Amino acid sequence: MVSITSIERSEVGSPAGRVTGPAELTIVLPTYNECKNVPIVVELLDKALAGVAWEVIVVDDNSPDGTSQVTADIAQMDPRVRIIQRIGRRGLSGACIEGMLASSSNYVAVMDADLQHDESLLPKMLEALRSQDYDICVASRHVEGGDVGTGLSSIRAWGSNLANTLARDFLKVELSDPMSGFFMLRRDRFVELAPRLSSQGFKIMLDIVASGKGALRVKELPFVFRERQHGESKLDTLVTMDYLGLLVSKIFNDTISVRFLMYSMVGGTGVVVHLIALKILLATFGLQFGLAQLIATFVAMTSNFFLNNRLTYRDRRLRGLVWVRGLLTFYVICSFGILANVGVAELIYTSKPIWWFAGAAGALMGAVWNYVVSNALTWRKG
Ligand code: GDD
Ligand code: MN
Repeated sequence: MVSITSIERSEVGSPAGRVTGPAELTIVLPTYNECKNVPIVVELLDKALAGVAWEVIVVDDNSPDGTSQVTADIAQMDPRVRIIQRIGRRGLSGACIEGMLASSSNYVAVMDADLQHDESLLPKMLEALRSQDYDICVASRHVEGGDVGTGLSSIRAWGSNLANTLARDFLKVELSDPMSGFFMLRRDRFVELAPRLSSQGFKIMLDIVASGKGALRVKELPFVFRERQHGESKLDTLVTMDYLGLLVSKIFNDTISVRFLMYSMVGGTGVVVHLIALKILLATFGLQFGLAQLIATFVAMTSNFFLNNRLTYRDRRLRGLVWVRGLLTFYVICSFGILANVGVAELIYTSKPIWWFAGAAGALMGAVWNYVVSNALTWRKG
């Protein structure tokens, strides 16, 4: 790395147009493999925000392309730039929350670091918030003047429309673009809501507005979604599951965590896998029922483990030898889960012989046990 002497430092001290002193506005840039984009974004912010006391906090999940180091190098030249490098964690919402919590400005904004968000909107957003008439300002592709441009593929555009409709119908969130990841809000409002936000998933703005339960005064401003220049999108089809999880969790008023919901959805697929495996083992291989049931149970447990590792715990995904150890602990935990399931079901059935009630209570008991214990052991943090 190039070292910067104190003389060079004082030279970059306070160029014309740069406002010194405490920042009024913090821009949080979540990054994963954006080493080419970060220097460009900082330059664009400098131009767009002339006359504003701003700072930028890059929250990088230890990108293999060295985004953290690239940012640290810029920060050596420009004190308005800061870096939070997170190790062993992944996730867009969590990164945004940490970045905003690291700010002490009056206003915080979140913007993609890949140049898809139009930074020239920031001064207008700031103006709207300074007027004290609004708590949050959202950049929307769907109000008049806004456009998804060519930045979204048609299948993504379709998915995005569906997600918008769901948010409107189920969360009663009146936003023209609830999927937008570009917004600015008062930091005091954010801090109030922060304990209720889910760090999983990527719908941080929707989460903030839904958690505000209608109390936030929202201003929408149009913008055109630009095409990505360098690097690639990190949001794959699995994020749709995250989104559905957030939706259901909010419908249940946060009483059920997004993770537990995903875990349960995976459990549901496990039942289907189990039945298909059982049918094949009986019909095609002609195994005797007991043995077929045992093998089908292992097939379903393995499939659940695989899906949970890819989906529910994608931010703590196990790989290599740890993956094997995880699978074995998962087998053991689920075996105890079956005991808990049958035990509870029998207990209830003897005092109240209603088959479906006892059966469902047993299954719920098993699911909760599996979730709590595998959360603590198989996918334990850190
Ligand atoms: N720290 C961190 N950790 N940053 C991440 C992660 C992560 O796990 N995943 C993505 N990012 C960063 C990217 O580096 C980028 O700066 C920003 O988050 C957006 O990620 P993209 O991968 O470019 O997302 P996209 O373009 O597919 O989706 C954007 O548009 C959607 C609307 O269609 C995002 O703005 C979404 O929030 C938005 O819903
Ligand atoms: Mn993008």
